[in-house]
Amino acid sequence: MYIAEVLAQACAAGNDGPSGYSVTGKPEKTAKGWRLRLSRHGTASPYGNDISQIAVDVEFQTKDRVRFKIYDPNNLRFEVPLKIESPPLAAEDTSYDIEFVSDSSIQFKIIRKATGTVLWDTSLVNLIFSDQYLHITTNVPSTSVYGFGENQHPSFKHNMDHITYGMYSRDQPPQMYANLYGVHPFYMCIESDANAHGVLLLNSNAQDVTLNPEPSLSFRTIGGILDFYVFLGPTPENVVQQYTEAIGRPHLPPYWSLGYQLSRWGYSNIDVLKQTVERMEQYSIPYDVQYGDIDYMDHQLDFTYDKENYAGLPEFIQELKNDGLHYVIILDPFLSKDQPRGSYQSYDLGEQLGIWVNNSDGVTPAVGKALAPGMSVYPDYFNPKTAAWWAQMCIEFRNVLPYDGIWLDMNEPSNYLNGQYPGCAHNNLNYPPYIPRISGSSLFESTLCPDSKTYLGSLYDTHSLFGWSEAKPTYSAIQEATGKRPFVLSRSTFVGNGKYTAHWLGDNHALWEDMHLSIVGILEFNLFGIPQVGADICGFYLDTTFELCLRWTQLGAFYPLSRNHNALGQKDQDPGVFGIEFARIARSTLQIRYSLLPYLYTLFFEAHVSGNTVARGLMHEFPADLETHGIDRAFLWGPALMIAPVLQEASAMLV
Ligand code: GLC
Repeated sequence: MYIAEVLAQACAAGNDGPSGYSVTGKPEKTAKGWRLRLSRHGTASPYGNDISQIAVDVEFQTKDRVRFKIYDPNNLRFEVPLKIESPPLAAEDTSYDIEFVSDSSIQFKIIRKATGTVLWDTSLVNLIFSDQYLHITTNVPSTSVYGFGENQHPSFKHNMDHITYGMYSRDQPPQMYANLYGVHPFYMCIESDANAHGVLLLNSNAQDVTLNPEPSLSFRTIGGILDFYVFLGPTPENVVQQYTEAIGRPHLPPYWSLGYQLSRWGYSNIDVLKQTVERMEQYSIPYDVQYGDIDYMDHQLDFTYDKENYAGLPEFIQELKNDGLHYVIILDPFLSKDQPRGSYQSYDLGEQLGIWVNNSDGVTPAVGKALAPGMSVYPDYFNPKTAAWWAQMCIEFRNVLPYDGIWLDMNEPSNYLNGQYPGCAHNNLNYPPYIPRISGSSLFESTLCPDSKTYLGSLYDTHSLFGWSEAKPTYSAIQEATGKRPFVLSRSTFVGNGKYTAHWLGDNHALWEDMHLSIVGILEFNLFGIPQVGADICGFYLDTTFELCLRWTQLGAFYPLSRNHNALGQKDQDPGVFGIEFARIARSTLQIRYSLLPYLYTLFFEAHVSGNTVARGLMHEFPADLETHGIDRAFLWGPALMIAPVLQEASAMLV
């Protein structure tokens, strides 16, 4: 480590020269590592309000994990409330060195000791740390870069030709390069000698990252601090193990949730649902989980069921359970405020407790428009009172419908209006000077205004944490209500969600291309520590076809989360609906899944205790074979089983 020597020279450089940061004072040795102080001089950065004094804390957290946190030592700024444990004293015998180079650029490097490879290499002089625009660029040692989410992109290994990904949770069907439901500012890079490392930017503000061919990465976020964690690996599996050690290991899912799952939006009444279940029985399709989408609800109201169209649902769920099946219900994170007084107790109680996301005044509830009739309010799950109310609602509702798991949808949070009623005020939170590369180019399109208040602060900081905040209260409520290991499926996710939830890749399309893209998404979420992940088998939007659905069932039989689901208005696509030939092939493929469940369960156990991935790219096992770096049409279950599905139409006889 060369920090002291370098700093002496950097200090001598003084405050002259072009604008940017320079080093002030002497480096301070801290219990966990080093502190470096920087001060800004020269002209203002493009968006003004530069923070003049900043500090860089380098913490040697574990032998293989180093954190560097760039922050304002004089004013508290928003920090993500994810607790990453670290020992009080600097780790010894680390696999990394840090280095500050003494030229005018104040180069900060993180180096792998064993090989000398520079994993992180940034110029602190060029750093921008202003109130609403933070920008840092680093060189990376190779172009084998994976991760960043949630975004759809054509290949698992990123194209680094000036591609920019926005990260800001959004209710948006997967669209190439767009910001989707969740936020994961994490990447893994495989170095040219096959060692791998991972990097997390723990920040929840709207942000984007540009991948450049040098190769380099350029991070821009509009709030919070620059809080980086580097994981040294050196194998890809070690990277994910170390990452999940920090952010929380994935939960161990109940065994039944590894079975085949069937869902759809548009079982118009309980008879339609019963006919579907009968088809599954008629053709002996292996199957463990049936879902209830919003159709089961009374007018799409959480914690109700439709006593006309779904009369007898509680008894039917009990029948399914007697047959060994499990039932998962959907819940949306908004409650209609416009039901006749006294008729909707979940809302009335919440209103009485004052537990909704509020307008910028911090007192009046933010009112948006969602699926439920009338206008809706949004539970502020970070508020402990909200979490307790939600748990009570979930527990009481289990006495009405004996569900086994909960599906959390629309938790970006989604809103059919752009900002709540009557619109977003013109201020620097709703209209920040820089808007990251996100769909709609506005922070409030299809969601609430960023200046809305939550228990932890403005949605400006906490928006992308909304789904994450809903996860733990739901997980705990199921545990209490059922006494069993919970199953929670969440659409919006953030760093650490895997501790409580599974994830599906959202509202895809019944297109051949979407089959391939689903593999990319599944591999990526395994890097993010959410291994129980799948895509809607046979496609959500658009009518599927016999051949596409059959091929997708063959691929989906090997998704860690194997669920067939589609949208209102599309044709049925359950494995029983296409007739005997389809059913025969679907059955035999799913039987392979079922015969391998002990192996799959073991992989989930290993993910839970050691942080391994469940589905993984071939390069996890063969990082030295460069060809594997680009493979994403085949994937592995653990180290020992490769799945190479048919992804093209008419490519072979159906067997
Ligand atoms: C959202 C979900 C989808 C669900 C629908 C109705 O679009 O992503 O899976 O079927 O809402 O609840």
